[in-house]
Amino acid sequence: MSKITAAITAVGAYVPDYKLTNKELEGLVDTNDEWITTRTGIKERRILKDPEKATSYMAIKAAKDVLAKRKLDPAEIDMIIVATATPDMSVAATAAHVATEIGAVNAFGYDLAAACSSFLYGMSTAASYVQSGRYTKVLVIGADKMSSIVDYTDRTTCIIFGDGAGAALFEPNDEGLGLQDEYLRSDGVGRNFLRIEAGGSLHPTTQQTIENKQHFIKQDGRTVFKYAVSSMAGACEKVMERNNLTNNDVDWLVAHQANKRIIDATANRMRLKDESKVLINIEKYGNTTSATIPLVLNDFEKKFKKGDTLVFASFGGGFTWGSVYLKWAYNS
Ligand code: COA
Repeated sequence: MSKITAAITAVGAYVPDYKLTNKELEGLVDTNDEWITTRTGIKERRILKDPEKATSYMAIKAAKDVLAKRKLDPAEIDMIIVATATPDMSVAATAAHVATEIGAVNAFGYDLAAACSSFLYGMSTAASYVQSGRYTKVLVIGADKMSSIVDYTDRTTCIIFGDGAGAALFEPNDEGLGLQDEYLRSDGVGRNFLRIEAGGSLHPTTQQTIENKQHFIKQDGRTVFKYAVSSMAGACEKVMERNNLTNNDVDWLVAHQANKRIIDATANRMRLKDESKVLINIEKYGNTTSATIPLVLNDFEKKFKKGDTLVFASFGGGFTWGSVYLKWAYNS
């Protein structure tokens, strides 16, 4: 009997209409288009302007996109993972709300929080459930309303982040396609360098924490950058090495879009000489945290052929990072 593998069988996405350009940011903080473009590769990001709408609004849209593309009855979905750093609320799982809103009446769901690695970790979780034979249709949604935690007077963060959502459906595959291997790691040293200080159990929200702006995301960009390059590149090398993959075997690098220079450095370490294999859409969306990877999948879906080798890479707060090796399962 052949082993069950877990393959991606459909992807979908949603980004808000509003474009926050580098030009507009020039009016908010002391920065300029040239600095942002050369240091990060970002030209614009999408912002969910409506204060009544939260992460779930985008997650629901992305999920419905997947259902429509796969022509799937939502009642068939077994499980929904919402990978996010910006859940609608604490305690009440965003995934439960999303499941109900899309009509996934037979599903259970929960949120997965591993900062920018949430979607990659969610892929691992979804694939494990499918491979176990316990569930057959697992939806992983990466969604973040980063504008809800960004300080638009802080030029070291507000130029980077944007809002968006993407989703991927995992189903069993009997041709050996889908997730092949993964290398996932974390290191708690990271919480000193990338975090929201207040609002959690360590520093519950007070008048003081708000006045100190401790409810916004803060980072030591230079340190995060160094860790990101060495960790992401190291994880990709590890996955390639233990699966005997050479640079020529890799068809596509699907990396978390935090900074174009981090992605380029990772591609260099993997010796991916052909730039067209390195998928980049950071110029349009910035860093959408949990949504970057599924947004890349959705934007470049038409390029992927059945059997293609995809290497995924991510790095995020915590620190959390890793790499996944996956064989694409369909032609679109
Ligand atoms: N516009 C103009 N100048 C800016 C700026 C901005 N938006 N932000 C910082 N600067 C200035 C700094 O003050 C500094 O000035 P100084 O040399 O006079 O002190 C100079 O630019 C260089 O700052 P530095 O922080 O070294 O820049 P950098 O090349 O590291 O780029 C980041 C900054 C944030 C873009 C980069 O460090 C990065 O991408 N880090 C990783 C971020 C990340 O991935 N976070 C999410 C986790 S996945």
